[in-house]
Amino acid sequence: MIRNLQLTPDGKLHHLLTLDGLPARILTQILDTAESFVSIGDREVKKVPLLRGKAVFNLFFENSTRTRTTFEIAAKRLSADVFNLNIATSSQNKGETLLDTVANLSAMQADMFVVRHASSGAPNLIAHHVAPHISVVNAGDGRCAHPTQGLLDMFTIRHYKGGFHNLTVAIVGDVLHSRVARSQIHALTTLGCPELRVVAPKTLLPREVESMGVHVHYTMETGIKDCDVIIMLRLQNERMQGDLLPSAGEYYKHWGLTPDKMKLAKPDAIVMHPGPMNRGVEIDSDVADGSHSVILPQVTFGIAVRMAVMSMVAGS
Ligand code: CP
Repeated sequence: MIRNLQLTPDGKLHHLLTLDGLPARILTQILDTAESFVSIGDREVKKVPLLRGKAVFNLFFENSTRTRTTFEIAAKRLSADVFNLNIATSSQNKGETLLDTVANLSAMQADMFVVRHASSGAPNLIAHHVAPHISVVNAGDGRCAHPTQGLLDMFTIRHYKGGFHNLTVAIVGDVLHSRVARSQIHALTTLGCPELRVVAPKTLLPREVESMGVHVHYTMETGIKDCDVIIMLRLQNERMQGDLLPSAGEYYKHWGLTPDKMKLAKPDAIVMHPGPMNRGVEIDSDVADGSHSVILPQVTFGIAVRMAVMSMVAGS
C-alpha cells in the first residue's frame, strides 16, 4: 500500500509518492512549512542548513523544465549536496535496470531520490527497494501522480483565495492523461473544496471520473461559470493514442480559455496552468499573460513547497 509506505509508524512523511490518501493534516503541514520558506527567496543569502550533509539525487527519466530545476534550487537552498543524473549518458543506455541504477547510487551514500519517470509506479517501486533511511519523492510518474505539483497548486490557491472552503474550482482539459489533475483532485477533495469540476470533451476524461468526487461538465459555458479558480491542463499529444480530438483548432474553439470565455468566471478568478503551455491550443496568450494569470507565481511557489517536502521527509 503506497499510503502506508509514505508515513512512518508515528505519522511523519517519509516518502512522497501520491496525494491519494494523505491526510489533510499532512497536506496542511506541508503548505504551512512552505509558507515559512517563501521569504528565503527574498534574502541575499538564500540558504538554510536543514539538509546540510545530505545527498539528494535527481533522477529525471522524462523531460522537465520546472520540476527538475525547482527541485534542484530547493535542495541547494536547504544546503544539500545535489546530483543530477544525466539519464541520456548514464548506463541505463547499456541496459542497466532501474533498480540496479538506484542500488549503485545508494552505494554512493544517497539520502534522497527525486524521481520522474514515464512509467506509472516507478517511484513507488524504488521506495519499496531503498534502505529505510532513504526517502523517495515522486516528481511525476506516467499518468499516476505529480504530488509536488498538486501541492504547489494548493499553495497558490490558498495564497490568492485564503483557503478552500468556499471555492468553485474547474480543472479544464486533458484530464485523461494528466497526473497533475489526479493529484489536484485528491488534494482539493481532502482540503474541503465544496465544488470541484472537470471540464473536457468526453474523450479526454477517465471513465468513472465522478467517483473521484468531481462534477463533470462537457462545455466551458457551464464548466467555468462563476468559478473562483480555473486550472488549465496541457493537451498531452505525446500520450494520446488514436483520434481523441478532431483538431487542435476545434479544441481551442470549444475548450481553449480565451478572454471572452473568462467573462463567465468570477471577476476575481485566478487562472493556473502547470506548464508547459500550448499557447493557442488550451489557452490564449492574452489569458496566459493577463491579469488573472498566476502561472508564473505557481513556479516560484514550487521552490518553497519542494523545500518543505524535502525537509519533512529528511526529518522523518
Ligand atoms: N509542471 C511540470 O511538471 O513541468 P515540467 O514538465 O517542466 O517539470
